[in-house]
Amino acid sequence: VSTIADPSLAAAGAARIAWADAQMPVLRSLRARLAAERPLDGLAVAACLHVTAETANLVRALRAGGASVALCAANPLSTQDDAAAALVAEGAEVHAVRGEDSGAYAHHVATLVGARPQITLDDGADLLTVAHAAGMAGTLLAGTEETTTGLLRIRGLAAEGRLACPVVAVNEAWTERLFNDRYGTGQSALDGILRATNLLLAGRTVVVLGYGVTGQGIAQRARGAGARVVVCEVDPVRALEACMEGFEVLPALRAAELGEVFVTVTGSAGVLGAEHLERMRDGAVLANAGHFDVEIDLDALREAATGGVREVLPLVEEYLLADGRRLNLLASGRVVNLAAGQGHPPAAMDLSFALHVLVVEHLARHGAGLAPAVHPVPEAIDREVARLKLASLGVAIDVPTAEQLAYLERFRAVGWPVA
Ligand code: ADE
Repeated sequence: VSTIADPSLAAAGAARIAWADAQMPVLRSLRARLAAERPLDGLAVAACLHVTAETANLVRALRAGGASVALCAANPLSTQDDAAAALVAEGAEVHAVRGEDSGAYAHHVATLVGARPQITLDDGADLLTVAHAAGMAGTLLAGTEETTTGLLRIRGLAAEGRLACPVVAVNEAWTERLFNDRYGTGQSALDGILRATNLLLAGRTVVVLGYGVTGQGIAQRARGAGARVVVCEVDPVRALEACMEGFEVLPALRAAELGEVFVTVTGSAGVLGAEHLERMRDGAVLANAGHFDVEIDLDALREAATGGVREVLPLVEEYLLADGRRLNLLASGRVVNLAAGQGHPPAAMDLSFALHVLVVEHLARHGAGLAPAVHPVPEAIDREVARLKLASLGVAIDVPTAEQLAYLERFRAVGWPVA
């Protein structure tokens, strides 16, 4: 049995899932092939992903291939209750309610693990972490991971010699990084901020903390909307890249004085703490686009707010500081693109979830032979996803000649890294 907010939302959910489906041509083509070939017949899949219309289309594709799928949320605030209701109406098992408390959230994750799935799909590694804590990971065929944060957790397990099953790093495939992180989060994080606040970005100072692929996407899009963008970064190579892209690069303490909108996307914790809050301007907006709600120090914010906290708009909390300054926190510091927006657009998730489908198919066939370690997505799968996407766009590309292949092969033979 499923746990969802309201089954009567199923029709609204089905309409949004269909809208998303129209923009997910790669996933659609895979669903058609899987329905014909049924390579996943009898496979038990547990997915801890953001419960959205896009994820619903992933679940549909896996079920079309013969898998049974149980889904729970990867964040208490990201669930689209209508998408969850539509999936349940179609016969999938879903345990997710938007706004569920941490106890219910953990219970849903544990429910999926307790059903002893063969394959886990994670966005943040909660299923795998719980499976390991419960001593149940050894019986898993394999898992996949969708985020940088989740891979950090899984590599932590591996470093301690405790990783008990193979995990495929979907997050590190090219077709994932480029689309999901740069274009998907880049657009949807700003979308979430704008939906919550209706701010004009033109002429405003936007501080992006973290210049990984995701931060790059946010910074570029904020600049495109006319903002003055300041980047804060601890990695010298990335900081240099931001300089070369023409962004102003500053230490966070200095940026704190200038910013009107702050977006954390570092994957780390305590990036905006008490010393930054002290320096911020009245009315500053604070948003987080990283996986966990730890990048903005919420305890420090609560302590600083001696004047109280009030909800001034849905998903906008105003913290009143002793000196009269007001700081506005969006979506309780949780992933702003999903909590205040609709998450990555379907066209971005199309690639990400096509990768998931092909990786699950690969694991169903070859998972038993994989060592308990973190594995890259096979290159052939990455290329296949890009090829299918290009085909859906009607874009043709050149094929190297036999002479060109032979030419490049000479370099490969002496160990030169040739693409
Ligand atoms: N992660 C970011 N955006 C998402 C979406 N639309 N669906 C599922 N997971 C996501």
